[in-house]
Amino acid sequence: MADQLQRPYAAAACLLLLQYLTGGISMSIPDPKYREALIKLETSMQTGGQLVLNDAERRLDSLLFTMKQKEIARPDFPPTMHFFKARHLIRTSPIFNLLKKMPKGGALHVHDFSMVDVEWLVKNVTYRPQCFMCVTDKQSIRFIFSSQLPKPLPHCSPWTLLENLRAKMINITDLDNSIMGNLTLFTDEDPETVYPSQDVVWDRFEQTFLALWGLVTYAPVFRDYYYQGLTQFYMDNVMYLELRALLPEIYELDGSTHDAAWTLKTYQEITRQFTADHPDFYGARIIFTVHRGVNITTMKGVVEKAVKLRRDFTDVMAGFDLVGREDRGRPLWYFREALSLPKNVILPFFFHAGETDLEGTEVDQNLLDALLFNTSRIGHGFALPRHPVAKNISRKRGVALEVCPISNQVLKLVNDMRNHPAAALMLENHPMVISSDDPAMFGACGLSYDFYEAFVGFGGLRSNLGTLKQLAMNSIKYSSLTPEQQKKALALWQRRWDEFVSNNVF
Ligand SMILES: *[C@@H]1O[C@H](CO)[C@@H](O)[C@H](O)[C@H]1NC(C)=O
Ligand SMILES: *[C@@H]1O[C@H](CO)[C@@H](O)[C@H](O)[C@H]1NC(C)=O
Ligand SMILES: *[C@@H]1O[C@H](CO)[C@@H](O)[C@H](O)[C@H]1NC(C)=O
Ligand SMILES: *[C@@H]1O[C@H](CO)[C@@H](O)[C@H](O)[C@H]1NC(C)=O
Ligand SMILES: *[C@@H]1O[C@H](CO)[C@@H](O)[C@H](O)[C@H]1NC(C)=O
Ligand SMILES: *[C@@H]1O[C@H](CO)[C@@H](O)[C@H](O)[C@H]1NC(C)=O
Ligand SMILES: [Zn+2]
Repeated sequence: MADQLQRPYAAAACLLLLQYLTGGISMSIPDPKYREALIKLETSMQTGGQLVLNDAERRLDSLLFTMKQKEIARPDFPPTMHFFKARHLIRTSPIFNLLKKMPKGGALHVHDFSMVDVEWLVKNVTYRPQCFMCVTDKQSIRFIFSSQLPKPLPHCSPWTLLENLRAKMINITDLDNSIMGNLTLFTDEDPETVYPSQDVVWDRFEQTFLALWGLVTYAPVFRDYYYQGLTQFYMDNVMYLELRALLPEIYELDGSTHDAAWTLKTYQEITRQFTADHPDFYGARIIFTVHRGVNITTMKGVVEKAVKLRRDFTDVMAGFDLVGREDRGRPLWYFREALSLPKNVILPFFFHAGETDLEGTEVDQNLLDALLFNTSRIGHGFALPRHPVAKNISRKRGVALEVCPISNQVLKLVNDMRNHPAAALMLENHPMVISSDDPAMFGACGLSYDFYEAFVGFGGLRSNLGTLKQLAMNSIKYSSLTPEQQKKALALWQRRWDEFVSNNVF
């Protein structure tokens, strides 16, 4: 019965096919012109899609397109792999080498004690005199510089002067490598085995941080570290920095300490010195941060301190943020009273929010809450596509996301970079910048590795030179600089951009 019913249709289809093949009638194939128009429309909607490129830029763009096609065809395409395994491949990539030379504007999401590669810390800092080390119960290490034998630390072996320890060693390289291994998450071993879960990788992250602490909070090192950090970003063609800084107590060899105002002033002085030494570097500003593990009373005190520092150092201090793992710490809403300010008080917020995959939890509400507190930007915003209302507000108010791809991968929110949620956001020109979070922790440096993952990984074949140009300009547009400062910074950037383009087209 069914067969008989279908037979007339089959006959009709045959007839139609015949007529089509012989050009008898037109089938309803979608109009190719309409299709072309839709493709163009979609391309014009992406980040940079509205930019008109000049002749030289168009030539560089087609060069980039060819390079990217080749890169994507590789059987060992780096963005599909964990960054620790991909790094050596990325280093030989022609696109990466171009991205290194590209003027990238500002780095707007970087933390104070992960700016400088750890080799410098080991080779330079731990070789300075009066450096003591101890080994904890958990096989992590701690440091302190001191003119005399320091007080013992709980759960740590007795302090040993590194100088003496090295003098006794047959092979110093092994010791230096083990120190280096303690100061970064990067490893040559299989990262999936070493860090099987978010809990494990975050625990190591926090241990690593404690290991660094005694080195980088020693006053002479603190100054050199920051100068060296600026140097590494500058060498990577970054011209401006907004640094999230804890402004901790900084100590001297005799054990005396300096307060947060001293630390902020030191940041200001070193930034001035660096810009004087490198006139094509625009400068840096500080976002004061506190760990989200503190209680409400402490938070109230810290916010008061932040307001005062912002009033006394308006030039250098951009605002305030909370740091630490969102999934473990308290949500923003828990601190709502401490974070509420009288109408006449100014303290811009730059909240980390949505660095989570725990959809629907209290922590997952941080995105919306950050926006309700009028945050100036959103740190990460990894979960934003799952919050249509927050996404709308962020777009309408121009609250940019600080997208840090390598950080998200190492901290286990995404494996294959092609699946990063920012892919969709970049295709609709959602306000965003690319940053590197804690480059030294991840074995990266400056911004170029993260630009690579964004451009080649989740940017796919669609993102182009316009995308890169827009992302660099976004880093100035969404910075905390005043409109006049932005104009100056943009002019400085534009000169370097034009140079970059003309130096790389032949
Ligand atoms: C360590 O770094 C400081 C500051 O950058 C520099 O002056 C010094 O020469 C370096 N020392 C070594 C041994 O590399
Ligand atoms: C020290 O150890 C490293 C790594 O284990 C090795 O590559 C190096 O050759 C050793 N150096 C000496 C002088 O034995
Ligand atoms: C950290 O240092 C300790 C002591 O030297 C060492 O046993 C341990 O293997 C190091 N950890 C890493 C991850 O390198
Ligand atoms: C909050 O934390 C501080 C510092 O850790 C502590 O001194 C204080 O007792 C705590 N307050 C409350 C109410 O828990
Ligand atoms: C956020 O900004 C809006 C509009 O300027 C204002 O009405 C609101 O009070 C602000 N909210 C907070 C928590 O500051
Ligand atoms: C987002 O905004 C658009 C236009 O402004 C509106 O049409 C849409 O309903 C909004 N969506 C949500 C989820 O708020
Ligand atoms: Zn961060």
